[in-house]
Amino acid sequence: MSAYSRRWIYLAIVYFCLAVGLGVFMGLSGDHRLMAVHAHLNLLGWVSLSLIGVIYHYFPRAAGSRLASLQFWLHNLTLPLMMLALTLVTLGTPQAGPLLGASAVAMLLAVLLFATNMFWRRT
Ligand code: HEM
Ligand code: HEM
Repeated sequence: MSAYSRRWIYLAIVYFCLAVGLGVFMGLSGDHRLMAVHAHLNLLGWVSLSLIGVIYHYFPRAAGSRLASLQFWLHNLTLPLMMLALTLVTLGTPQAGPLLGASAVAMLLAVLLFATNMFWRRT
């Protein structure tokens, strides 16, 4: 497996640990307020990063493109910011709303970069 795929998968594992850690905390404490953070750490972190890593393994030309690097950095710089903003908003700091909105749009851009990269450089 190339380093390009591996970096997605290793980060996915980090998110898996964080997300399941938060899930166990929610279960044990009975405080489920951060459910959306837990769900999206799992789904935009563990699940999406793993899938992208595995998909790039089968599309090595796309995996090594400059667009893929841009996508990697955009997705992975945005996700922690988005989760921080979602945590703040959920726990009662609405001032983090604009950051949440901006990071959601940045995440959409990262997803569109992935789509563009896959359709352009398939093999
Ligand atoms: C030990 C592992 C896990 C624990 C203890 C755990 C715990 C929880 C808890 C306590 C909730 C809140 C339920 C509620 O308030 O209705 C929740 C929701 C959720 N969890 Fe987990 N979770 C775990 C693993 C995962 C994994 C691996 C995923 C996805 C890959 C996941 C995805 C979700 C989603 C999507 C929701 C929201 C469900 C909804 O919309 O009702 N969880 N989890
Ligand atoms: C920029 C990306 C995303 C944004 C802005 C977003 C936004 C949202 C919003 C606003 C909700 C409703 C939360 C609530 O009612 O409290 C939600 C729920 C949910 N989303 Fe996403 N989502 C994104 C990506 C994803 C992805 C990639 C997946 C799956 C692979 C996913 C799966 C879910 C699930 C399962 C729920 C229900 C659980 C919950 O309420 O937390 N989302 N999302």
